[in-house]
Amino acid sequence: MIPRRIVLQLTSLPVHLAVIMDGNGRWATSRGLTRSEGHRAGTKTARKVVTECRKLGIRHLTLYTFSKENWGRPKEEISFLFDLLKRFLTNELSLLLEQDIRLNILGEINELPLATRKVLQHVMTTTNDCASMTLNLALNYSSRDEIVRAARLLAEAETPPAEFTEEALANRLYTAGQPDPDLIIRTSGEQRLSNYLLFQAAYAEFYFTDTLWPDFDETELHKALETYAGRKRRFGKTGEQAEQDT
Ligand code: IPE
Ligand code: IPE
Ligand code: MG
Repeated sequence: MIPRRIVLQLTSLPVHLAVIMDGNGRWATSRGLTRSEGHRAGTKTARKVVTECRKLGIRHLTLYTFSKENWGRPKEEISFLFDLLKRFLTNELSLLLEQDIRLNILGEINELPLATRKVLQHVMTTTNDCASMTLNLALNYSSRDEIVRAARLLAEAETPPAEFTEEALANRLYTAGQPDPDLIIRTSGEQRLSNYLLFQAAYAEFYFTDTLWPDFDETELHKALETYAGRKRRFGKTGEQAEQDT
């Protein structure tokens, strides 16, 4: 039998994979642990997924890390999350450099706690020349807000209406210069976007799994990628036309 990893390399991989890492809280409470323990376990999965995507050759990986709506959570949970992120990035910096991974943030960094912001800036600057993979963390992110912000930037530049195009808008999103996500994975059984990449997801494939994020691993990732490889993307064309395009 051909090992799964080789099969995946031979078939179509997403260029851009986006993930909604959900279910940390439920994973923890079902074990009688605190939600914080769930988030801590979730970072281990994040590390595994980043490393595996890099190995497979996925060029852009976007992880939904903290939404603007998440500010509505208890203060203690929020400060734990930002502290965890700070420690995670400090620890992972050497690994990112080793694996030639550039860190990029999608979202409003200026509104984050100072200590977290400093680490983020440091890791972004240090990995700026890494070119094998871009790791986007959607952080303090809201897709509607991102679209409004892009429109505001166009307005501020006094863009003539005729130049107010899809491309002009896309170039002012946090993801400017990166391809749209080909595949969006959401864990924990929820089947919604929760204000994630609404503009960019126009033709994304979706993969939902009941697995909670801390239980997601390389095997689960491979399952999702195999499912994606079997999908027929048509971009509005007939099946036959799409077949000819590939
Ligand atoms: C995802 O897990 C992590 C964040 C949103 C920060 P949750 O914390 O949403 O876990 P559940 O959905 O409560 O289980
Ligand atoms: C989405 O998960 C945000 C992140 C994974 C960071 P949520 O758990 O916040 O989403 P909802 O509230 O269930 O839609
Ligand atoms: Mg959740």
